[in-house]
Amino acid sequence: MEICRTITACRAAAAGFRATGARVGLVTTMGALHAGHMALIEAAKAGSDRVVATIFVNPTQFGDPADLDAYPRREADDLAKLKAAGVDAVFIPEASEIYPEGDETIVETTRLAGLYHGAVRPGHFRGVATVVARLFNIVQADAAWFGEKDYQQLAVIRRMVRDLHFPIEINGVPTVREPDGLALSSRNARLAPEDRAAAPVLHRALLAADAAAKQGATAEALDRIIRDTLAAEPRAVLAGLDIVEPEGFARATGPLTGPVAIMLSATFGDILLLDQKEIRP
Ligand code: PAJ
Repeated sequence: MEICRTITACRAAAAGFRATGARVGLVTTMGALHAGHMALIEAAKAGSDRVVATIFVNPTQFGDPADLDAYPRREADDLAKLKAAGVDAVFIPEASEIYPEGDETIVETTRLAGLYHGAVRPGHFRGVATVVARLFNIVQADAAWFGEKDYQQLAVIRRMVRDLHFPIEINGVPTVREPDGLALSSRNARLAPEDRAAAPVLHRALLAADAAAKQGATAEALDRIIRDTLAAEPRAVLAGLDIVEPEGFARATGPLTGPVAIMLSATFGDILLLDQKEIRP
């Protein structure tokens, strides 16, 4: 596995793969890798000939500097996991490499970035789109894999790729969960034990909504069921709840006529967790 710390080295590695005619797959991460990330790597391995992974804790997508500082960094452990999974090259840049001195270009999905989870975390999706656009340009992979857990992030990336004509295929991967239903996240390790015990309420709320949708519940009824489920867990403070149509991201109302995405987030102590899922009536 090649470890690239500069753009030049990463470009050379990816160009070498392409020169052999290989289809190159990309998985972008902020490290502290868990089984959710590894599911993306497995999907990329299955869907391409060579896999490039990136590890970069992107400063521009964090609103709170303390949250950025507290973000876990476990480079040696991450590299061992990627190597064992058969990744061909890893790009681990410094922030100054990605954001050169005097840099002033941003990428923003102007409508989508401000909606829903983007309203809870202003500037977040602009940071995500900006870094992912730069990583796409550096690696120039044929395809990339993103988790459906970050449903709105996946939508932002798809919209950016479509609008800016990036020649890359975007694939979603279903959420990997703990046995009690909590979606795997690098943030879970920072939960107090009581909050860790309470956090599966997010998944329970989504399952309750899924079951109700199958019984013909309206979007408003789903909203109520999720709020009530969260309200029964005193350690959870609802941060965002939006039920939207997967295509245009318009808010769903009335009887469900097709799939809807439920975008749920809540804080446990000062840790924001999100769980987002597409459900069908
Ligand atoms: P990060 O949180 O490290 O996640 C990297 C990728 O792993 C994302 O596509 C995310 O959706 C996926 N992922 C995380 N937890 C998952 C789970 N439990 N099951 C399935 N997939 C999961 O998301 C980011 O980093 C950043 O915003 C990034 C895209 C790298 C841009 O900086």
